[in-house]
Amino acid sequence: MPYAHITGWGMAVPEKIMTNDDLSKIVDTNDTWIRERTGIAERRIAADDESTATLALAASINALKVANLRPTDIDLIICSSSSPEYIFPATACLVQDELGATKAGAFDLLAACTGFIYAINMAAQAIRSGSIKNALVIGSETLSRFVNWEDRNTCILFGDGAGAFVLQASERPGGVYSAVMHSDGSGGDLLTLPGGGSKNPATEATVQQGMHFIGMDGREVFRFATRVMAQATREALDAAGMDLEEIDWIIPHQANIRIIEAAARGLKLPMDKFIVNLQKYGNTSTASIPIATVEAIEKGQIKSGDRLVLVGFGAGLTWGALIAEWTGPFPSKGHIYPEQYRLFGRVRSLVRRTIRFIEGIIFRREL
Ligand code: ACO
Repeated sequence: MPYAHITGWGMAVPEKIMTNDDLSKIVDTNDTWIRERTGIAERRIAADDESTATLALAASINALKVANLRPTDIDLIICSSSSPEYIFPATACLVQDELGATKAGAFDLLAACTGFIYAINMAAQAIRSGSIKNALVIGSETLSRFVNWEDRNTCILFGDGAGAFVLQASERPGGVYSAVMHSDGSGGDLLTLPGGGSKNPATEATVQQGMHFIGMDGREVFRFATRVMAQATREALDAAGMDLEEIDWIIPHQANIRIIEAAARGLKLPMDKFIVNLQKYGNTSTASIPIATVEAIEKGQIKSGDRLVLVGFGAGLTWGALIAEWTGPFPSKGHIYPEQYRLFGRVRSLVRRTIRFIEGIIFRREL
């Protein structure tokens, strides 16, 4: 049975930085409160020409460059997002088209901030079963578009960004060892975006009531998160047959420093075992774990052979954890420039649209 190795990684964040001081000019808050209660100092906000798909694409190209893998070799693209480009088509399909990933299946996965762990597990299982060889897994968000900038309970927390991993099959042991996924829909009302779906389709009334914004019971989500982080980590370790002592790094969902500190206490681990960068980006939901991972690799913290726990929680409620041994790129010949395939992808897309247009005219005449 092949193993699913993580061989590429990339991230993309908007250039625009919003500091706590910037926020204090919009809502009744201040830098001290936000830093003390959350650990966040600033977050990135997407520009008008950026969106969940553009950030996902940029992160994906970076990940493919590291893996030295052609877009045409990808079998599956999973994009986890809580703020997808549209309800449909899937953001993953938009990325597939832009990348020129001609043979890839593509779908979106919604498990809120736990989405990246769910998506990695799904891709790893597809590789382990032998049904695919190469997968691209993305976490991408523009939550700034769904935040009520008049609600200080939520607008201080979230930020925009994307991260992506490439997973590849190999007979060599390593890669993703285990994962646990949990949900509890009885807590679904604690963190919601109620408008725009089939229950509350967008109308003037839903907009007036602010149903297109994130609503959250912060205290309850906090309580839930502090309970499940350590528990999920232990379960994933048990499933992998490993002990906490064998783990080099824990990469938690970057929501609130106090939640991560509670997880550290629960696991009886020092904070320096945890990768933390929420001070720079806030909570980027499904993108937070890959962004934290990429930065830790770039800083030289995570190295090939290190054993990692990825652990997260989010709306749903959902939570989960995953154990992986960090591999790094497979040795390969030649140098691949994934961005060059974009041009090929654009041309292919244009040709397909043109053929569909011509077929449409012919078909209409025949009717
Ligand atoms: N600035 C200043 N004061 C504030 C602010 C703010 N931005 N927000 C709330 N306050 C006030 C409250 O009004 C309250 O005042 P009061 O005591 O006079 O009523 C006081 O500060 C304390 O409020 P709490 O809500 O109890 O503050 P708490 O310490 O719980 O922190 C927070 C709030 C940061 C939201 C915390 O509960 C939290 O992080 N919860 C988890 C949220 C989370 O992680 N959500 C994302 C989940 S992942 C996903 O799926 C997207």
